[in-house]
Amino acid sequence: MSRLDAAPAARAMFTLDPTRTYPVLDRADGIHVWDRDGRQYLDAIAGIAVANVGYGRQEVVDAIAAQAARLPYAVGNIFASEPALALADEIARVTPGDLDHVIFTSGGSEAVEVALKMARQFHVLRGEPDRSVFVSRWTNYHGATLGGLTVGGSKLRRRVYEPLLPATPHVRTPYCYRCPWPDSHPDCGPAAAAEVEAAIVEAGPSRVAAVIGEPIVASVGGAIRPPDDYWPRVREICDRHGVLLIIDEVVTGFGRTGRTFAVDHWGIVPDLIVMGKGMSGGYAPLGAVAARAHVRAAFEERGAAFEHIFTFGGHPVSAAAGLAVLAIWERERLTERAAALEGPFTAALDRLREHPFVGDVRVSGLMAGIEFVADRATKAPFEPAMKVGTRVREAGLRNGIVTYPGSGMADGTRGDIINLYPPLIVTEADIAEMSERLETTFTEVEAELARSG
Ligand SMILES: Cc1ncc(COP(=O)(O)O)c(C=O)c1O
Repeated sequence: MSRLDAAPAARAMFTLDPTRTYPVLDRADGIHVWDRDGRQYLDAIAGIAVANVGYGRQEVVDAIAAQAARLPYAVGNIFASEPALALADEIARVTPGDLDHVIFTSGGSEAVEVALKMARQFHVLRGEPDRSVFVSRWTNYHGATLGGLTVGGSKLRRRVYEPLLPATPHVRTPYCYRCPWPDSHPDCGPAAAAEVEAAIVEAGPSRVAAVIGEPIVASVGGAIRPPDDYWPRVREICDRHGVLLIIDEVVTGFGRTGRTFAVDHWGIVPDLIVMGKGMSGGYAPLGAVAARAHVRAAFEERGAAFEHIFTFGGHPVSAAAGLAVLAIWERERLTERAAALEGPFTAALDRLREHPFVGDVRVSGLMAGIEFVADRATKAPFEPAMKVGTRVREAGLRNGIVTYPGSGMADGTRGDIINLYPPLIVTEADIAEMSERLETTFTEVEAELARSG
């Protein structure tokens, strides 16, 4: 038996979950991936919200090969490279307002770190060194680094690593299905925004550097969209207190929710936008932060360098991949496509509400969350030991569909969802196929749950 044929568990790689056997992916094309045993899966999560332009796009492959042959690397504190400069120009063109200054990373977590550090240095440069507090939100995810986890709000992902970095105040996220402000629901936008302001006031407004949040919560919440007046109010509160607003569009950016950026739904311009994932279509690791003109000016006016460097930030090959992917995204009008398919996607997923364990179906563009409950009337979640989200993922794989579970959204530890982020190139027929495979998957899981009592 060759080493390639050995079971992954017998190999050297530190797989994340030692109790699980990982299917070994071998190839991909369009919206499908195949494992080395030839089994095909419909990739309903686009890798993990990365393969927005689909797999097997030869022009991206060619751009990567050409760049690797010409110039594979340039260190960011000595050199720039043409693909990185060109990609920054492209991003500046499509971001809202004056978010015209772009710095690159290898992924979303690194980009969150950059945003936090940039916000901090911005205030230090402007003579407000006490501004070191970040106000963040429960049920939001901002990456896997200690900084990202500290401002992140997934209790499950944080708990092993607590006490984390110096405590940051967390506020509740507007979440209509389980509204934290039932007395004001559905007009809870003002109450939710007031909680952000209360956290700033309690920390001491002159001590707060930034508020950070996902505009529409992705993987740890399942497409949780706030009331329309929430983010505009938070923007106004931040302005009033001299606090920067960092919006994490790692999942939602570049068309996923039917707008170029999710903040475009409400016409707000954050001070820093964090991005990653779909920007390079999964063809190369890439993240970025776009900063507004006044943030850049704080550095330029004082002749101060940003005290930061990642070895692979601005990697020419990743930038070339990003340029090729954004060219496809624009030419094929994938944002408009996500907006147009929101209706058919919603209709296809709404069918699944017939399953008694489906509590809620949430859709924004081509991003969806399906929340499972033990009791629809009371919205009581399943016990975590039942691993409902994981069961759905595993049954989905058996039925040839890839989904992404999340948990903890009901009370921090309980509550199960699956996320769907199909490639933005999907057709209505693909959506119907997804819904069929989910239908079979849900029927199987409900039977399993009934058997396990
Ligand atoms: C909203 C959000 N921010 C940040 C990240 C971290 O990105 P990465 O995994 O590329 O480091 C993720 C990853 O899922 C994310 O969903």
